[in-house]
Amino acid sequence: MPTLATTVDGLNLPNPFIIASGPPGTNLNVISKAFQEGWGAVIAKTVSLDASKVINVAPRYAKLFSGDKQEVIGWENIELISDRPLKIWVEEFKKCKDRFPDRILIASIMEEYRKDAWFEIVERCEETGVDAFELNFSCPHGLPERKMGSAMGEDPEILEEVCGWVAVATKKPVWAKMTPNVTRIEEPSRAALRGGAKGVSLINTIRCVMGVNLDTLKPEPSVEGYTTPGGYSSKAVKPIALRMVMEAANLVRQEFPGRTISGIGGIETGEDAAQFMLLGADTIQVCTGVMKFGYECIKPMRDELLAFMEKHQFETLSDFKGKSLDYFTSHADLVRRQIERKAAQKAAAAKSVRSDAEWSGDTFVQQSDSLSRH
Ligand SMILES: Cc1cc2nc3c(=O)[nH]c(=O)nc-3n(C[C@H](O)[C@H](O)[C@H](O)COP(=O)(O)O)c2cc1C
Repeated sequence: MPTLATTVDGLNLPNPFIIASGPPGTNLNVISKAFQEGWGAVIAKTVSLDASKVINVAPRYAKLFSGDKQEVIGWENIELISDRPLKIWVEEFKKCKDRFPDRILIASIMEEYRKDAWFEIVERCEETGVDAFELNFSCPHGLPERKMGSAMGEDPEILEEVCGWVAVATKKPVWAKMTPNVTRIEEPSRAALRGGAKGVSLINTIRCVMGVNLDTLKPEPSVEGYTTPGGYSSKAVKPIALRMVMEAANLVRQEFPGRTISGIGGIETGEDAAQFMLLGADTIQVCTGVMKFGYECIKPMRDELLAFMEKHQFETLSDFKGKSLDYFTSHADLVRRQIERKAAQKAAAAKSVRSDAEWSGDTFVQQSDSLSRH
């Protein structure tokens, strides 16, 4: 019987499924629900030192539906990080660790580009007993105007420096959450890992505009008739997330062996999770999937991942982590392989004349030749 239990950066998880930072981890009430339903860990909604600067608007979500309107396939949000005061969060983190001492609670933190601010937020969260930190370098809207979030994640020098500060401030595992809004994910990932992050989490949302309402001519989500570009998530982003996880996993393999990857982006099923793991993810995070299907979706996801493992006789997650990375190569190499395969097929066909029915117009000369050589 395979097991989903895993240890990542010293964190013991009953399964690799983690609530990603966002609405499904936005207060003690919902975090408790996640643990009760069986999630392996929870990354709380991102906190900062001064929540009074965080002012959300409504509406702040917009959805993209499939052609038959039955399914949400893409989701835009212009939601900011938590607007709840850190004082309240500190109390809730403590209560959560009291209530669920063996479960993994990860604080997602974001601050301005000041060493003292990062030290302070780490210290205030660490004393609550949280098990690890995720550094949010990736929120694509609102916060970059204060040089936070993806404004930092797009700048490898700043990333390395801030990860270095946090690695000094805490001995707990630190993951850097990466923005996909860059040309090459390897550069910021390398900077974060060089700075001292134990792992990288990717991807956060992709900067987007969901659409324009053709009656009002106004883009959505419309707030007082105006909008601002937001972050795209859900099923539609999975191919982009898989590509970036693959690239980060190759970087880890080549330059940072032993560091870890948390895969995020459009994951809704155990099969999705298996694909991220085959491309190198150690853990799996889900945000929009929980907003679409509820916390209970952990159960089918666990069952589906176990069924995949049983089918291939994998006993543990490490039996297949990164297994599909070997099947990526350059386009030129694909061309070479295809030419070789066709030539081999032709040669095999030429050799295989056992009855007159097997003569072929394409390989007639080779077949004739093969019958004269013995
Ligand atoms: C409404 C909403 C709010 C989010 N808030 C945060 C946040 O506070 N901090 C963070 O690191 N990521 C946040 N995210 C990003 C998610 O954690 C995740 O990286 C992204 O949505 C892709 O995964 P998914 O397709 O499973 O949602 C948010 C996403 C959504 C949809």
